[in-house]
Amino acid sequence: SRTIRLAVVPGDGIGQEVVAEGLKVLEAVLPADVKLESTEFDLGARRYHRTGETLPDSVLAELKAHDAILLGAIGDPSVPSGVLERGLLLKLRFAFDHHINLRPGRLFPGVKSPLAGAPEIDFVVVREGTEGPYVGNGGSLRTGTEQEVATEVSLNTAFGIERVVRDAYRRAQARPRKKLTLVHKNNVLVHAGHLWTRIFEQVGTEFPEVTTDYLHVDAATIFFVTQPERFDVIVTDNLFGDILTDLAAAVTGGIGLAASGNINPSGAFPSMFEPVHGSAPDIAGQGKADPTATVLSVAMLLDHLGYAAEAARIEAAVAADLTERTGPRTTAQVGDALAARVSA
Ligand code: IPM
Ligand code: MN
Repeated sequence: SRTIRLAVVPGDGIGQEVVAEGLKVLEAVLPADVKLESTEFDLGARRYHRTGETLPDSVLAELKAHDAILLGAIGDPSVPSGVLERGLLLKLRFAFDHHINLRPGRLFPGVKSPLAGAPEIDFVVVREGTEGPYVGNGGSLRTGTEQEVATEVSLNTAFGIERVVRDAYRRAQARPRKKLTLVHKNNVLVHAGHLWTRIFEQVGTEFPEVTTDYLHVDAATIFFVTQPERFDVIVTDNLFGDILTDLAAAVTGGIGLAASGNINPSGAFPSMFEPVHGSAPDIAGQGKADPTATVLSVAMLLDHLGYAAEAARIEAAVAADLTERTGPRTTAQVGDALAARVSA
């Protein structure tokens, strides 16, 4: 059936603006026989202030009935840090078991990298999405006293590691260079690190064509800057992946271009696609945000739903647009230009 039931969560700040452009391009790229049924969900800071809710179970159930979710950005200075991040964004990732957090790092032709020379950058970070220090497993003792103690315990299961590692091997196998790098910190985080390393080696026996490599996360940050061309597919835990993918965005033209997918490969729950950037309250409402990251996230969404040709058309449109960018354009002007290109 050629219908896409899309849940749209614009969220906070520039999320509203960039999602509007993402939808514009999506509508423009879809063939006439594909019906787009999109439902907008009012979630984020406004709803929190109005009702005290971040993500009610009834809304979660409604979201579940969609093929995919397009999300803008979550977070606002008027809401205490962590409330919306944990109560909405991470709740969605956990509830829908988005264990593959896919974040491409690609330097498009014509885009200026802050790195010297013109390095070839084309890698993809497969960030684990449902475990690690993100599970909220910890606590505080003797709060407010000088003896205060806080723990934040990283959860690493063999099941959770194996499924993300296997997914990363499959992706590496499907790419020309067939190279997979595990990033961890197994010289210090020995319990989790050794489990990751062992499973990485075990699963690797199923993929003899894939070349493997291991880097400690601190060393990986050096190579992201000095030798980004050495990376093809990278697999890593939730927190290391969070940090590395901001760095990846920085070296590939900035956070305005970085797309991501929170994927549940089984299809049991809708996968969710979002720009890596946040809600940028400082520039919200001014038409200054670059919607390209959202548009590229829409391409990932289409690819996930089996519309590979349409996804490729969006990527080609972005690539062409990026070679011709000169003066500043508004959010809507970029969206219009990309929509025009994909429908041409
Ligand atoms: C991201 C963000 C989130 C994360 C925050 C907002 C919870 O930084 O998508 O990278 O840490 O995953
Ligand atoms: Mn992040």
